[in-house]
Amino acid sequence: MRALTVTPKSANSARLEDIAEPESEEGPIVVETLAVGVCGTDVEIVSGDYGWSPQGEARLVLGHESLGRVVETPANSGFAEGDLVVGIVRRPDPVPCYSCAVGEWDECRNGQYVEHGIKQLDGFARERYRTMPDALVKLDPSLGDLGVLLEPTTVVAKAWEQADLIGNRVTWRPRRALVVGAGPIGLLAALMGVQQGLEVHVLDQVETGLKPDLVQRLGAHYHTGKIADAVDAPDVIVECTGVPQLVADSFGALGTGGVLCLAGVSPTGRNVELDLGSLARDAVLGNKAIFGSVNANRRHYVAGADALAKADKGWLGALISRRIPLEHFEQAFERQADDVKVVIELKAAQ
Ligand code: BGC
Repeated sequence: MRALTVTPKSANSARLEDIAEPESEEGPIVVETLAVGVCGTDVEIVSGDYGWSPQGEARLVLGHESLGRVVETPANSGFAEGDLVVGIVRRPDPVPCYSCAVGEWDECRNGQYVEHGIKQLDGFARERYRTMPDALVKLDPSLGDLGVLLEPTTVVAKAWEQADLIGNRVTWRPRRALVVGAGPIGLLAALMGVQQGLEVHVLDQVETGLKPDLVQRLGAHYHTGKIADAVDAPDVIVECTGVPQLVADSFGALGTGGVLCLAGVSPTGRNVELDLGSLARDAVLGNKAIFGSVNANRRHYVAGADALAKADKGWLGALISRRIPLEHFEQAFERQADDVKVVIELKAAQ
């Protein structure tokens, strides 16, 4: 069967390959992959900057944001043939650490977790895969091919959950949120902020086009320019770009008692001048909290699926800028102006 593979840490090694059918010991459920989304992590892997192949192998099947359909399953699995499903990206470490032992693999303590399409586990950009029922999440069938947006939504669902848990260490009545970055993660973060009834502001560098339009369609406020000029003392900031200067500016803009979630993976080696003493002093005197958030566990897949089911389908559809057939996968990695989410299609959802 066809698969999109890379040789990790080797730039521009992405290629289509014929690979063996999945082994039966990988699980009793057979899923055919309909689509995989492309994100910044995939771009890093294809550039040779990130990614690890399964033990004993040179190549890694790409694809961690996925949508699939069950084509074979035992009767008592909780799934039926035809179900639209998404594979959970991260799997627990084998020890397991105390977080993985309770299903919180997103908080793995020893770093021995594996991730489909990223770290030591083949991804979903292959025509079929086999899996265990506990590694799969069922989608509302009305989502159709929009279900490919679930994985990035789970990352955001975790960020919001954690921000709320941290806020709730005291009486917590957040009103205003700022999302930095209007890529897929930022827009989905804005969606979930609006769904919670918050006044949501989104800041990005793009001045016109789809991004401002999508933010306005949510009933949220769009800004460009400096964070400090965009919004006054937000209770929550979800920083989705990882750009060091924006991380520093987010820190400075946070309101008293506010919570800053760093959800973007920053590049390293870029120095930013900042008055850390002043930021730290403000954080202490203003009871501010800063935390990082990565990945998602089953609870966040359920919350993400719920957020997508409640969202306007037209709005979600507008997030998918381009659908590229597997045989032309290279085009998915060529960035175009106004791209939000680019998807590689393996098979039609209908
Ligand atoms: C994925 C996460 C993953 C992270 C780090 C992100 O792109 O969405 O599931 O944990 O990369 O590998």
